Amino acid sequence: MTADTQPEIVRTVDDLRSHITRWRAGGDTIGLVPTMGALHEGHLSLVRAARAQASKVVATLFVNPTQFGKNEDLGTYPRDEVRDRGMLAQGHVDVLFAPGVEQMYGPDDSTRIDVGELGACLDGEFRPGFFVGVATVVAKLLLQSLPDVAFFGEKDFQQLQVIRRMVSDLHIPVEICGVPTLREADGLALSSRNAYLTPEERRVAPTLYRVLNSIADVAGADGDLFKAVDEGTSELLSAGFASVDYLTVRNAATFQPVTTRRDLDGQPGRVLGAAKLGRARLIDNVGL
Ligand code: PAF
Repeated sequence: MTADTQPEIVRTVDDLRSHITRWRAGGDTIGLVPTMGALHEGHLSLVRAARAQASKVVATLFVNPTQFGKNEDLGTYPRDEVRDRGMLAQGHVDVLFAPGVEQMYGPDDSTRIDVGELGACLDGEFRPGFFVGVATVVAKLLLQSLPDVAFFGEKDFQQLQVIRRMVSDLHIPVEICGVPTLREADGLALSSRNAYLTPEERRVAPTLYRVLNSIADVAGADGDLFKAVDEGTSELLSAGFASVDYLTVRNAATFQPVTTRRDLDGQPGRVLGAAKLGRARLIDNVGL
């Protein structure tokens, strides 16, 4: 494939499986990059990671209705398949699987996957049903393509851990690879929803990353985490964020709350935050 070759668009599970069967027969390995489109450099970093680990790369483009709440942005979520396909060509993606809703959710579709507590806290609490929708669609995409490895961004850290748990619990024979967050020069994590920010909100937005790092510093020094979270919340609100859904330190695997560094008992921790700024709800996280 040359640099300019557009990935072939596949609309049905049958067609996707024919490609994969043919590739497997030829000894290829398959990397899967699930997306909802509105692609940016962060998605291309997932594609690059897939290219490095697999001989064929499938990207998926599906705005999954089951992971949007009633008052969320399903109707206005940015959609531009031509642009997204052009970006994926730069990443040498072989196939773009872009199914319609009826292909993913047939008329009698009723199965949903609920990973329990890991998907009920934090974003699961503020976006009820979100992780059920994510786990269900990702299970479908994995079972439709049965890749060797699938790639997800660490920016959506809880989503990554929910998917890892689901794959492990359901014995889906796929390796899940988390890819580090790409950031703008001022620290703002790349996200499709950054497009919702006005210029003034865009100036304020990196405060979230700064606050997460300050809390991580306090945790690293075994300082007072309650105070650090309180101060971080005030800093976000005075910077111009409308509300803070959560700002918290968790065990990175179990998502149990951490009140002092000792709670982690040597295991990895994560500082996570979600806050509303204008039309956008920004989420981000840093490792401990
Ligand atoms: O992170 C996303 O873009 C979506 O949640 C995913 C994993 C593609 C499932 O729809």
